[in-house]
Amino acid sequence: MNIILLGPPGAGKGTQARMLTEKRGLVQLSTGDMLRAAVAAGTPVGKAADAVMKSGGLVGDDIVIGVISERLDQPDVKQGVIFDGFPRTLAQADALEKLLADKGISLDHVVEMSVDDEVVTARIAGRYTCAKCGEGYHDESKQPNVPGVCDKCGGTEFKRRADDNAHAVRTRLMAYYRETSPLIGYYYAKGRLASVDGLADIDEVERQISAVLG
Ligand code: AP5
Ligand code: MG
Repeated sequence: MNIILLGPPGAGKGTQARMLTEKRGLVQLSTGDMLRAAVAAGTPVGKAADAVMKSGGLVGDDIVIGVISERLDQPDVKQGVIFDGFPRTLAQADALEKLLADKGISLDHVVEMSVDDEVVTARIAGRYTCAKCGEGYHDESKQPNVPGVCDKCGGTEFKRRADDNAHAVRTRLMAYYRETSPLIGYYYAKGRLASVDGLADIDEVERQISAVLG
């Protein structure tokens, strides 16, 4: 099964993708994570993406489509994938249709996670992740069971994203409304869209997504 999680910054795409990875063995394809890895490694893609990511803008379509196209050639995608943060523009959505057709991969569900701006801004402001395994936490809504120790891997170092500041979050939200929200209509018109209540608690969102996936 191959699915897209669609929603603004802080909607919970990464949180739910990680849960689906654990429960259903799907592979999470987060373009944000791939681009951050490229920035950290100092690759040409990372050099091209760094400044625009810090500002909260969108990286160019050609770069992101190239990254996803290469990733889709790796054998693990046969397990089924979750597109997390891709596509984000109509050009990316059209390119994905073509890539999937060329590679003989189906798209089974597009799940829109609907939230509101105040909530996502608060979620992003409190977010941090385990530096070792990437498990996500939040200052208020999801603390590790033992303070300072990751529930998943026992790691004791945590990090916050460079673009999780008030200015970049406003730019990211604007990019979402301008460039990404038209994809809701795009996939609705294709008969593929389902919506879940992204404001519900994490386990309830998971139940709603599971009901869509069947
Ligand atoms: P990306 O990494 O994709 O960031 P984003 O879309 O801004 O989304 P986030 O990762 O911030 O949010 P999320 O929905 O994953 O929420 P999370 O689960 O962490 O992209 C970053 C940048 O890379 C972009 O700005 C752009 O520059 C570039 N980029 C990436 N893809 C691109 C593309 N396709 N084209 C062009 N540029 C691209 O949850 C957030 C917090 O809330 C966490 O603390 C979590 O614990 C908490 N939380 C989650 N769910 C709930 C819940 N139900 N209730 C309470 N708290 C919750
Ligand atoms: Mg994410």
